[in-house]
Amino acid sequence: MCGIIGYVGHRQAVPVLLKGLKALEYRGYDSSGVALHTGASLSIVKRAGRLANLEKAIEQSNPTGCLGIGHTRWATHGVATDLNAHPFLSTYGKFAVVHNGIIANYLSLAASLRERGVNLTTDTDSEVVAHLIDHYYTGDVLSAVCRAARELKGSFALGVISVYEPNVLYGVRKDSPLVVGAGVNENAICSDISGISDFCGRLYAMQNGEIARVSTQGISLYDFYGKSRSFDLSPQEKEENSEREENEDYMHCEIRQTPLALLSGYESFPEKEAETVLSKPYDEILLVGCGSAYHAGLVFKGAMRELADTQVREEIASEYLTQKGGEKRNALVVAVSQSGETADTLLAVEKAKRQGATVLSVCNVRASSLVRLSDLAIITRCGRERAVAATKSYVAQVHSLLLLCLKYAEIKGKISKNKLNELKGEIAALPEKAERVIEEESYLSKVALAAKDAEAVFFLGRGQDCYAAKEGSLKLKEISYLFSEAYPSGELKHGTLALMEKGVYGVVIATDPALAEKNAATVAEITCRGASAIVVASEGIQPDMRADYVITVPDTHPLFSPVLTAIVLQEFAYYVAKARGCDVDRPRNLAKSVTVE
Ligand code: F6R
Repeated sequence: MCGIIGYVGHRQAVPVLLKGLKALEYRGYDSSGVALHTGASLSIVKRAGRLANLEKAIEQSNPTGCLGIGHTRWATHGVATDLNAHPFLSTYGKFAVVHNGIIANYLSLAASLRERGVNLTTDTDSEVVAHLIDHYYTGDVLSAVCRAARELKGSFALGVISVYEPNVLYGVRKDSPLVVGAGVNENAICSDISGISDFCGRLYAMQNGEIARVSTQGISLYDFYGKSRSFDLSPQEKEENSEREENEDYMHCEIRQTPLALLSGYESFPEKEAETVLSKPYDEILLVGCGSAYHAGLVFKGAMRELADTQVREEIASEYLTQKGGEKRNALVVAVSQSGETADTLLAVEKAKRQGATVLSVCNVRASSLVRLSDLAIITRCGRERAVAATKSYVAQVHSLLLLCLKYAEIKGKISKNKLNELKGEIAALPEKAERVIEEESYLSKVALAAKDAEAVFFLGRGQDCYAAKEGSLKLKEISYLFSEAYPSGELKHGTLALMEKGVYGVVIATDPALAEKNAATVAEITCRGASAIVVASEGIQPDMRADYVITVPDTHPLFSPVLTAIVLQEFAYYVAKARGCDVDRPRNLAKSVTVE
């Protein structure tokens, strides 16, 4: 969803910015660019396409300077061209701006700027910001930035430099993430710490409505009226699970890190804090999330229904936002998000909070907006996830939510002590079982090779397996671009069966022994129409299935099986995408962190 970075210090800015942009590329890779203070003026280099294009252009023009800003783009307004790439300059080149977010009132701002004779040259919402700051400049850059920030609507994290201050950059935040980092004789701003963590030992995650004035001498913070604010820089937390083999895709590396993530999540589950929050009486439990995070929530819903005899209302965050009325005032909102910066999820949480809800989040980023909004945050300890597709983070979310479900069942007296201990034992065994699934990946790569040219792939399952199927389908389509859908197996015969023919694949997830016969029937329905069937089954189930391929996962409680089947489905998607020559870490049209509605 665009990544921005700014640097000021004793070193040349270009290598610092490029390194930072590489780390931020997961946020968007439609174009990239940098702006530098060269001493006398501002100089810009920007290119459509991957960062490599920008690097090539920079090699040719070789701009120098120790103050600069950079941007990597996920296009929203305006196609991905050199022209629409950030940074943007104001008319006489006095200000350069990079932006992450959406300027909701850019059309009216553009109209009034045009009336004043400003020539806007791009199709973006962001360009107006540079002109607006220029318009308000009367000798003091901070005042101009403040004045412009007050006029902007929507979401924005901005990086601003001006020709007037060769040693100062500004960061502005409203509803899009931005951190300020302090190093030794060098300081920076960035969409997240990944871009500046190698030289900024101390960090501050900016709040909405703040402007940071950053120079080599130090960092000061202001509100949008220029009033000074106090803040604390905290030491950077050590990053977990960051090792990667040379040339290995991040996605593959991150799938392999899953067992460790599960182990850390199990050990760090906040038992006492969860007990305090869950003990209160609630009128309803509402789960919100998007994409994979929402799918993790579905598994929670299934487990809560079975183990805690409790109905969870689950809502895709963006859909929840469209609903009017019907709010329960005393709800517990469980918000799930890897990044903690997904705009739809944050807005859904804010909406629920306005109704008086208590917020419990499951999040992978401690310094995120979601964690700040939460009464309690359960941190999934996966380490950073850089590939766009959620892998280890999804499994860790499911795992944390299962622990939460057990805690809830225990507190509400819905489960016997013996059963609780048995299930806790099952959960404790999951990291080792996940390791075993990963060891079997070479077979999966062969299955994937067979399916790489499928006309369509349908993921099917019942109960928890159906929720796992939804996630498997999402993973496959987002990184391999194969057409895919997920359905409850029982629904197949109510329409989708019409699509089963040679060249189509059905992936049937069948981990519950109680449903073995029904699942075998689903496989038969697929194969007798000429389509190919891949079955993902628990070891203990050896149903008489005439499937083309059977992939087994270790036995576990059927409610917990999505932890293991997810790894199989992620690897399946990964190997299909590799066989199709796709960029698995950076699939087309997508970005890791979706910070716009
Ligand atoms: C899919 C994927 C997305 C995210 C979704 C929510 O692989 O990664 O569907 O799950 O955009 O993101 P977070 O979890 O950061 O809120």
